[in-house]
Amino acid sequence: MKTKQDRIIIFDTTLRDGEQSPGATLNVDEKLTIARQLARLGVDVIEAGFPYASPGDFEAVQKIAQVVGVEGGPAICGLARATKPDIEAAAKALKPAAHPRIHTFIATSDIHLQHKLKKTRAQVLAITEEMVAYARSFVEDVEFSPEDAGRSDPEFLYQVLERAIAAGATTVNIPDTVGYTTPAEFGALIRGIKENVPNIDQAIISVHGHNDLGLAVANFLEAVKNGARQLECTINGIGERAGNAALEELVMALHVRRQYFNPFLGRPADSEEPLTNIDTRQIYKTSRLVSNLTGMLVQPNKAIVGANAFAHESGIHQDGVLKNKLTYEIMDAQSIGLTDNQIVLGKLSGRHAFQTRLKELGFELSDTELNSAFLKFKTFADKKKEITDWDLESIVNDEIQQPPELFRLELVQVSCGDHSRPTATVTLRTPAGAELTDAATGTGPVDAVYKAINRVVNMPNELIEFSVQSVTAGIDALGEVTIRLRHGERVFSGHAANTDIIVASAHAYLNALNRLYAALQPATVTAAAAQS
Ligand code: KIV
Ligand code: ZN
Repeated sequence: MKTKQDRIIIFDTTLRDGEQSPGATLNVDEKLTIARQLARLGVDVIEAGFPYASPGDFEAVQKIAQVVGVEGGPAICGLARATKPDIEAAAKALKPAAHPRIHTFIATSDIHLQHKLKKTRAQVLAITEEMVAYARSFVEDVEFSPEDAGRSDPEFLYQVLERAIAAGATTVNIPDTVGYTTPAEFGALIRGIKENVPNIDQAIISVHGHNDLGLAVANFLEAVKNGARQLECTINGIGERAGNAALEELVMALHVRRQYFNPFLGRPADSEEPLTNIDTRQIYKTSRLVSNLTGMLVQPNKAIVGANAFAHESGIHQDGVLKNKLTYEIMDAQSIGLTDNQIVLGKLSGRHAFQTRLKELGFELSDTELNSAFLKFKTFADKKKEITDWDLESIVNDEIQQPPELFRLELVQVSCGDHSRPTATVTLRTPAGAELTDAATGTGPVDAVYKAINRVVNMPNELIEFSVQSVTAGIDALGEVTIRLRHGERVFSGHAANTDIIVASAHAYLNALNRLYAALQPATVTAAAAQS
């Protein structure tokens, strides 16, 4: 088989590598919501998880394969180390997908061989061949990654890749696992692979890279110029350590500068044919969804999706943009879906209009979620005249994000001011239905609320991040609170939105505490919570 590829395949790993960000843990429903949005965005492949890693990961990959991996949808991929049990778990979880892909990997750098795998090069070659063939016995589409390729001896890498392709790998992915290479080096590595792996024309060359030196996107673009045709990336660039190459940056670079990149893909420079399948107008919405559900905030100056990415502060710039946008803008905010913030609903809107708009925005809620989101919408609509799409997304994301059946906030009340000691009273409902009330004082109202909640929940933790952002402009805007807390080595995030930021703060905190509870031996904790 000969593989010719004149467009770039977008392989999204938000749900696998992205979820490896500390505190970004997502539950199965949240992963499914993100996967649906990734399909709407138009990614070609969704790496949905690492099925062998945990029952939760297995379930998420299986569910995504079933619901999103339908004919006409994206390929669904599961990660597997180069071992039989890993590959079997991936094959089983991917079974419902119309286009399943197994992604198997083994390290190839000497440093990994000596210290981590304790294997010789000959052993790694043999394992590669055997495990790629084993993966091919389950699915047609097999991706192979030589982990830490960026620091591997290129001559050894060529041999490994040749064996992997001969054994049936349809994609060979080149990871810069530690984010060490520079763009020129990474481009040369891809060129070397194209020139020295004899059967390379039978596979797609893919790249995967981490952002430790802030070079991942630049490395990938150099890789494209040298023959890479699949880019592995994540929304907002989240991922292990400094994260992965950001999908939105890659896609928009290829879109805005397509005349520059076209010739590298054998097209006329002036071709208007898109270089990727991505519907760029879905980018902003996807970014917000991932940020809300993972609790990983987007920095304001982040390229493409940061709050300031299209804001012009200097008078000279504002004047220029008013005269002609092209003076200071290389892309239109609309092209990433940024101005899609219509005022759609108000307090007279009914349940049907609410549900219809949610469907248009791509949210499919269960009856219980819909009821509860509608109640929340009505409460907000009473306080806030106009409910925009962004408000709706915020309300719904909040609803989906609730870990079920643990502690629930029934009441929060604070008293504060410049002449009083901030004091909070909270009432929480336990899963067993008991109502527990407690009160505390603090350095400020939020501190007092958190101390009062801690007195009830009694789960040691350290608050390491607290942030409030407004969803839209205006004094009645919804405030979104995102928090991260640490328990031992683990980090948990929480997110909530409300027109009252104290209420949002209480919900966000409880949201994170519920995740913490659920993560600690779910069975025991749920039982304990049920009795408290
Ligand atoms: O960074 C890495 O090397 C990976 C591999 C599993 C592809 O995530
Ligand atoms: Zn990675």
